[in-house]
Amino acid sequence: MKVKLKPFLNITKMKILVFTEKPFAQNAVKAIENTVNASGNDLELVERGTRADLLEAVKDAEGLIVRSDVIDAEVMEHAPKLKVIVRAGAGYDNIDLQAATDRGICVMNTPGQNSNAVAELVFGMVVMMCRNQYNGTSGSELKGKSLGIYAFGQVGRNVARIAKGFGMKIEALDKFVADAVMEGEGVHPVHDVKELFSNNDFVSLHIPATAETRNSIGYELAMMMPKNGVLVNTARKEVIDEEGLMKALEERPDLRYVSDIRPAAAEEFEKRFAARVFFTPKKMGAQTAEANFNAGVAAAEQAIAYLKDGWNKYQVNK
Ligand code: 3PG
Repeated sequence: MKVKLKPFLNITKMKILVFTEKPFAQNAVKAIENTVNASGNDLELVERGTRADLLEAVKDAEGLIVRSDVIDAEVMEHAPKLKVIVRAGAGYDNIDLQAATDRGICVMNTPGQNSNAVAELVFGMVVMMCRNQYNGTSGSELKGKSLGIYAFGQVGRNVARIAKGFGMKIEALDKFVADAVMEGEGVHPVHDVKELFSNNDFVSLHIPATAETRNSIGYELAMMMPKNGVLVNTARKEVIDEEGLMKALEERPDLRYVSDIRPAAAEEFEKRFAARVFFTPKKMGAQTAEANFNAGVAAAEQAIAYLKDGWNKYQVNK
């Protein structure tokens, strides 16, 4: 996408709006406030706001910082002064990039800032599932088991680092990452998704939601997993073909599914498969004080740097 960015006017004080339906931790909010104030700009903070609140608050904002909040053409239409949107986090499927590009708005994410938090939650959910959701019955261990990491980006790499501590064998699939990079981190590269699923006791998803990945994990892949396989999703619910996965869980009473993103059919999953599935009530992989601080401050610094002199290292609509 080619972006024709809005010209910089000689404005000295600008408004940066932080709009988060799911608020940052207090320490992060304070640090964001300090960062914006120190830059001489104004901060407006709207937490747990409605769509109407967003449309109102964005009216005079030059910068916008969000998490998974949906920023579409309508929001941008209400924001004639908006020059930069920073997604404080990794995935930016919540932002209409084309609409931003059409309006000369720069969109950035903050890669890596919350990835350790997400990776730790992978193991939080995996251990819980392997210990039968702590119901007192005999479970299983991770040591010596195999883990397949689907996408070896920032989160995938942190997952690999932690898996080593558990004594797991690790494979990863990522067509954008050279084998040597994985090998350098003690990870065996594979080049076929079927191989990843059939080789590994656990498969952890870290792919973004794109046209290519949508509904791509379903019956066929789940059925390839070894006995007692566990599928772990801290990526996006859209990558799962829910009907297909339910069919596999039905036919394979040994399979399990844990996810940090409640499926659209969460209640049906829970009703039919009870203890073999677990979903966090609200996506909380990145919901730690540390990740909020890192991603929130990075987002504020990036928005300021862009507004000040066009710094756009992490621009995703170009
Ligand atoms: C991300 O893409 O960074 C994670 O999914 C975290 O999203 P969140 O900021 O909505 O918790």
